Amino acid sequence: MSNAEGIFARLKEDHDDHRKLLDEMADTSGETDRRKDLLEKFTKEVKSHAAAEEQALYSTMLRKPPTTDETRHSVAEHHELNEALNDLAATDMSSSAWMAKFKQLDHDYRHHINEEEEDHFPDFEKHLNDDDIAHMEKVFDRRKEEEQESAEVTPEKKGDAKE
Ligand SMILES: [Fe+2]
Ligand SMILES: [Fe+2]
Repeated sequence: MSNAEGIFARLKEDHDDHRKLLDEMADTSGETDRRKDLLEKFTKEVKSHAAAEEQALYSTMLRKPPTTDETRHSVAEHHELNEALNDLAATDMSSSAWMAKFKQLDHDYRHHINEEEEDHFPDFEKHLNDDDIAHMEKVFDRRKEEEQESAEVTPEKKGDAKE
Protein backbone atom coordinates (compact mmCIF):
# COMPACT_ATOMS: atom_id res chain seq x y z
CA MET A 1 0.00 0.00 0.00
CA SER A 2 1.35 3.35 -0.99
CA ASN A 3 1.97 6.29 1.32
CA ALA A 4 0.12 8.45 -1.16
CA GLU A 5 -3.20 7.10 0.05
CA GLY A 6 -3.64 9.90 2.59
CA ILE A 7 -3.25 12.80 0.20
CA PHE A 8 -5.51 11.24 -2.44
CA ALA A 9 -8.14 10.51 0.22
CA ARG A 10 -7.90 14.19 1.20
CA LEU A 11 -8.54 15.32 -2.40
CA LYS A 12 -11.46 12.87 -2.76
CA GLU A 13 -12.98 14.26 0.43
CA ASP A 14 -13.13 17.68 -1.27
CA HIS A 15 -14.63 16.11 -4.41
CA ASP A 16 -17.40 14.54 -2.31
CA ASP A 17 -18.19 17.96 -0.81
CA HIS A 18 -18.34 19.36 -4.35
CA ARG A 19 -20.76 16.61 -5.46
CA LYS A 20 -23.03 17.48 -2.53
CA LEU A 21 -22.98 21.18 -3.40
CA LEU A 22 -23.84 20.34 -7.02
CA ASP A 23 -26.79 18.21 -5.84
CA GLU A 24 -27.98 21.09 -3.65
CA MET A 25 -27.66 23.64 -6.43
CA ALA A 26 -29.60 21.43 -8.86
CA ASP A 27 -32.44 21.60 -6.36
CA THR A 28 -32.73 25.39 -6.41
CA SER A 29 -34.87 27.53 -8.67
CA GLY A 30 -34.94 31.15 -9.79
CA GLU A 31 -33.11 34.10 -8.31
CA THR A 32 -33.07 33.06 -4.66
CA ASP A 33 -30.66 33.69 -1.80
CA ARG A 34 -30.12 29.94 -1.52
CA ARG A 35 -29.01 29.66 -5.15
CA LYS A 36 -26.75 32.71 -4.77
CA ASP A 37 -25.18 31.44 -1.53
CA LEU A 38 -24.60 27.97 -2.94
CA LEU A 39 -23.06 29.30 -6.14
CA GLU A 40 -20.72 31.53 -4.15
CA LYS A 41 -19.75 28.69 -1.83
CA PHE A 42 -19.20 26.25 -4.70
CA THR A 43 -17.20 28.80 -6.73
CA LYS A 44 -14.81 29.69 -3.90
CA GLU A 45 -14.45 26.08 -2.83
CA VAL A 46 -13.77 24.71 -6.30
CA LYS A 47 -11.45 27.53 -7.40
CA SER A 48 -9.32 27.16 -4.29
CA HIS A 49 -9.36 23.35 -4.53
CA ALA A 50 -8.22 23.45 -8.16
CA ALA A 51 -5.48 26.01 -7.48
CA ALA A 52 -4.13 24.08 -4.47
CA GLU A 53 -4.35 20.84 -6.45
CA GLU A 54 -2.20 22.41 -9.16
CA GLN A 55 0.33 23.73 -6.65
CA ALA A 56 0.54 20.54 -4.61
CA LEU A 57 -0.08 17.72 -7.06
CA TYR A 58 0.05 18.79 -10.70
CA SER A 59 3.28 20.79 -10.30
CA THR A 60 4.90 17.54 -9.19
CA MET A 61 3.33 15.40 -11.92
CA LEU A 62 4.30 17.87 -14.62
CA ARG A 63 7.96 17.20 -13.83
CA LYS A 64 7.53 13.47 -14.56
CA PRO A 65 7.49 12.64 -18.27
CA PRO A 66 5.05 9.68 -18.00
CA THR A 67 2.36 11.89 -16.43
CA THR A 68 2.95 15.17 -18.26
CA ASP A 69 0.12 14.62 -20.76
CA GLU A 70 -2.48 13.71 -18.14
CA THR A 71 -1.42 16.74 -16.13
CA ARG A 72 -1.78 19.14 -19.06
CA HIS A 73 -5.23 17.71 -19.74
CA SER A 74 -6.38 18.24 -16.16
CA VAL A 75 -4.96 21.74 -15.81
CA ALA A 76 -6.66 22.72 -19.10
CA GLU A 77 -9.94 21.45 -17.62
CA HIS A 78 -9.37 23.61 -14.52
CA HIS A 79 -9.06 26.61 -16.83
CA GLU A 80 -12.30 25.70 -18.64
CA LEU A 81 -14.00 25.20 -15.29
CA ASN A 82 -13.01 28.70 -14.17
CA GLU A 83 -14.43 30.13 -17.38
CA ALA A 84 -17.68 28.18 -16.95
CA LEU A 85 -18.02 29.38 -13.33
CA ASN A 86 -17.47 32.99 -14.38
CA ASP A 87 -19.94 32.62 -17.23
CA LEU A 88 -22.57 31.13 -14.92
CA ALA A 89 -22.06 34.00 -12.46
CA ALA A 90 -22.65 36.45 -15.34
CA THR A 91 -25.93 34.73 -16.32
CA ASP A 92 -29.32 35.92 -15.07
CA MET A 93 -30.34 33.47 -12.34
CA SER A 94 -34.00 33.84 -13.11
CA SER A 95 -33.54 32.77 -16.75
CA SER A 96 -33.80 29.20 -18.05
CA ALA A 97 -30.31 29.69 -19.53
CA TRP A 98 -28.90 29.57 -15.99
CA MET A 99 -30.08 26.01 -15.36
CA ALA A 100 -28.94 24.90 -18.83
CA LYS A 101 -25.44 26.28 -18.15
CA PHE A 102 -25.43 24.84 -14.65
CA LYS A 103 -26.27 21.38 -16.00
CA GLN A 104 -23.40 21.54 -18.47
CA LEU A 105 -20.99 22.65 -15.74
CA ASP A 106 -22.31 19.93 -13.41
CA HIS A 107 -21.73 17.30 -16.11
CA ASP A 108 -18.25 18.54 -17.03
CA TYR A 109 -17.05 18.93 -13.45
CA ARG A 110 -18.26 15.50 -12.36
CA HIS A 111 -16.48 14.08 -15.39
CA HIS A 112 -13.29 15.91 -14.32
CA ILE A 113 -13.28 14.65 -10.72
CA ASN A 114 -14.30 11.12 -11.71
CA GLU A 115 -11.43 11.04 -14.16
CA GLU A 116 -9.02 12.30 -11.49
CA GLU A 117 -10.16 9.65 -9.03
CA GLU A 118 -10.44 6.71 -11.40
CA ASP A 119 -7.66 7.32 -13.91
CA HIS A 120 -5.20 9.98 -12.83
CA PHE A 121 -4.68 9.41 -9.12
CA PRO A 122 -4.02 5.65 -9.44
CA ASP A 123 -1.63 6.39 -12.28
CA PHE A 124 0.14 9.23 -10.43
CA GLU A 125 0.60 7.03 -7.40
CA LYS A 126 3.01 4.82 -9.36
CA HIS A 127 5.37 7.74 -9.98
CA LEU A 128 5.44 9.41 -6.56
CA ASN A 129 8.32 9.02 -4.16
CA ASP A 130 8.26 9.74 -0.42
CA ASP A 131 9.57 13.28 -0.90
CA ASP A 132 6.80 14.06 -3.40
CA ILE A 133 4.16 12.78 -1.01
CA ALA A 134 5.58 14.74 1.93
CA HIS A 135 5.60 17.88 -0.26
CA MET A 136 1.99 17.36 -1.35
CA GLU A 137 0.79 16.77 2.19
CA LYS A 138 2.58 19.88 3.42
CA VAL A 139 1.41 22.14 0.62
CA PHE A 140 -2.23 21.23 -0.16
CA ASP A 141 -4.11 22.36 2.95
CA ARG A 142 -1.98 25.45 3.46
CA ARG A 143 -2.35 26.57 -0.14
CA LYS A 144 -6.07 25.81 -0.21
CA GLU A 145 -6.63 27.96 2.86
CA GLU A 146 -4.67 30.84 1.34
CA GLU A 147 -6.41 30.50 -2.02
CA GLN A 148 -9.79 30.43 -0.31
CA GLU A 149 -9.14 33.82 1.25
CA SER A 150 -8.60 35.38 -2.16
CA ALA A 151 -11.07 33.28 -4.21
CA GLU A 152 -13.84 35.37 -5.70
CA VAL A 153 -16.93 35.13 -7.82
CA THR A 154 -15.89 36.98 -10.97
CA PRO A 155 -18.78 37.22 -13.43
CA GLU A 156 -17.60 37.19 -17.04
CA LYS A 157 -19.50 36.03 -20.11
CA LYS A 158 -17.65 33.33 -22.02
CA GLY A 159 -17.24 35.31 -25.23
CA ASP A 160 -15.74 38.24 -23.28
CA ALA A 161 -12.95 36.22 -21.68
CA LYS A 162 -9.56 37.70 -22.43
CA GLU A 163 -7.54 34.49 -22.36
FE1 LIG B 1 -8.93 18.94 -10.55
FE1 LIG C 1 -9.64 17.65 -7.75
